[in-house]
Amino acid sequence: MPILLVSQGRDLTPWVNAMKEVQPELEVYVYPDAGAKNEIEFAISWNHPLGVFKEFPNLKCIASMGAGVDHILKDPELPEGVVVTRLTDEHLATDMATFTTALVLNYMRGLSAYKAAEEQALWLPKPYLRQRDITVGIMGMGVLGTAAAKQLKALGFEVQGWARTSKDIKDITVYAGNAELDKFLSSTDVLICLLPLTPETANILNRTVFEKLPKGAYVINVARGEHLVEEDLLIMLEKGHLSGASLDVFRTEPLPQQHPFWAHPKIDITPHIASVTNPATAVIQILENYDRLKQNKPLQNVVSQTKGY
Ligand code: NAP
Ligand code: GLV
Repeated sequence: MPILLVSQGRDLTPWVNAMKEVQPELEVYVYPDAGAKNEIEFAISWNHPLGVFKEFPNLKCIASMGAGVDHILKDPELPEGVVVTRLTDEHLATDMATFTTALVLNYMRGLSAYKAAEEQALWLPKPYLRQRDITVGIMGMGVLGTAAAKQLKALGFEVQGWARTSKDIKDITVYAGNAELDKFLSSTDVLICLLPLTPETANILNRTVFEKLPKGAYVINVARGEHLVEEDLLIMLEKGHLSGASLDVFRTEPLPQQHPFWAHPKIDITPHIASVTNPATAVIQILENYDRLKQNKPLQNVVSQTKGY
């Protein structure tokens, strides 16, 4: 059974090599090369050209190359009945925990301001915060949010989370659902967004939510650009209600050259690198599912297309 790799703008050579390393006999196609289209039952995808999957009448599974599946589910022509799976790679969780921790520490010690001062050769010591001054609130307590929460907790921060359903995590309060959102926000000094992008979570980082954070709060978005209402962030920074933001994801990627975020003194930007899939480890779980499909066994990491994650 051949495997089809589909992606716009991503070099798929490392994926082909990683798959051949695990199963040398695999027949792998990189779209638009697809061999006999009716033989394709299993595809691996990142940002596919919308509508492309309807070319494959026997497609049964689309595996995401990342943790998020919004890039697959947004396709209005996704064939009905096709199962969509996501990655829950241990490396993704470790890398996300490390990255969000780095951003929180950067905020705590005000390092971005020193970088700006250095560019002008200015010696400007400033007071700084300590762990006890900061409650970190994580929106989205799934695989990545929980890993980040535990690492920040271990470093001595007060940490709380928000999810759809409540969780029992040692020393971390997790608020659940819209009914508990305000309570979560009112005690969050650093807000980290690690939600999946769904119709319920799109535009969730908006003025109404920001206004419920304490004055001076800091925002970190490492989930998806569509979570953030960009204008609202600029207004809240301008008003001084928010003290700054670190953004790793954007509505348009790469972030356009003229975008006001680039030059904003209170916004730090990284190019969607918070946690990057490592093909060598990712293919192991994807090929496990490929083998399961061949043997008619239930697949792992299947997403709910109703919930959107
Ligand atoms: P996950 O395991 O599916 O966790 C999602 C979490 O969000 C769950 O806790 C879920 O609540 C919560 N949630 C979903 N909808 C909600 C809603 N309407 N209200 C409140 N909570 C809601 O996802 P993950 O693996 O942690 O990944 C999260 C996202 O990170 C991905 O979807 C992707 O967009 C992003 N990501 C970014 C990068 C990067 O490099 N920047 C890398 C990897 C992933 P329940 O637990 O109650 O279901
Ligand atoms: C990256 O953004 C992912 O979803 O894995």
